[in-house]
Amino acid sequence: MQRRAIYPDLAGRSVFVTGGGSGIGAALTRAFAHQGSRVAFVDIAETASRELVEQVAAEAEVSHRPLFLPCDLRDIEALRAAVAQAAKAHGDITVLLNNAAHDERHKLENVTVEYWDDRVAVNQRHVLFAAQAVLPQMQRAGGGSVVNFGSVSWKLRQGGMPAYTMAKAAMHGLTRGLARDYGKQHIRVNTLVPGWVMTERQLTLWVTPEAEREIEAGQTLAGRVMPENIADMALFLASDASAMCSAQEFVVDGGWT
Ligand SMILES: NC(=O)c1ccc[n+]([C@@H]2O[C@H](COP(=O)([O-])OP(=O)(O)OC[C@H]3O[C@@H](n4cnc5c(N)ncnc54)[C@H](O)[C@@H]3O)[C@@H](O)[C@H]2O)c1
Repeated sequence: MQRRAIYPDLAGRSVFVTGGGSGIGAALTRAFAHQGSRVAFVDIAETASRELVEQVAAEAEVSHRPLFLPCDLRDIEALRAAVAQAAKAHGDITVLLNNAAHDERHKLENVTVEYWDDRVAVNQRHVLFAAQAVLPQMQRAGGGSVVNFGSVSWKLRQGGMPAYTMAKAAMHGLTRGLARDYGKQHIRVNTLVPGWVMTERQLTLWVTPEAEREIEAGQTLAGRVMPENIADMALFLASDASAMCSAQEFVVDGGWT
């Protein structure tokens, strides 16, 4: 595990991650577990999630075994039940990482109403309902931090997935509205905007030599944005180190946009 800052206020905190079983979410689960947080995460990828729990639990310095709760986020009742289960196990949730999404490519002309509904259910709807379920717990606890995950894709005018880019752009509206409604209760809401992050899925599906050249030309920084770089920003946004940051977007894209 790479060396990273330790935020003492994150130790023991009840953290809830959506899509925490693979990709960027796995880096979030691991990074918060290494801070001593009590991490619960939901995911549909059961095998990957269970393997992650075993790996992280075995790592040095991890005092609380992450709790995997199988859940399809398209099912809002199942999400609500998972939030309740996480709180029962770990106490009131004070960090919510709304990370889950799926960047399936699609052409506008092929989008049916059913497909649209499904993409919104996967990429957008659960974010609001996760916040709705968790915010009373943050109020009771005296504060908290919600991090909604955006994307540089629409900022870069990337085509080929209009339902996805629309859902990701919507994160900013939700962030700023909730930040206003809950800020006086010490609840902060921010959008974390990842650049092109080299998860295994991205490397397998999309990162061709041509894409590598595009990244090279686009980013101002050398090197690749890794899931751990996103997790580092999430730790900062969750911790008191960002105590007066709310209603903002924090971009981790190697200086591309
Ligand atoms: N990887 C990138 O380059 C990139 C770029 C910009 C934004 N993002 C954003 O970062 C976040 C994480 O991206 P990622 O690349 O790790 O995504 P990913 O697709 O690799 O992983 C998302 C996780 O969510 C889970 N998931 C998907 N659908 C689910 C459902 N219906 N119910 C429960 N879990 C479900 C998946 O199993 C997976 O573990 C997303 O919000 C994405 O939009 C990623």
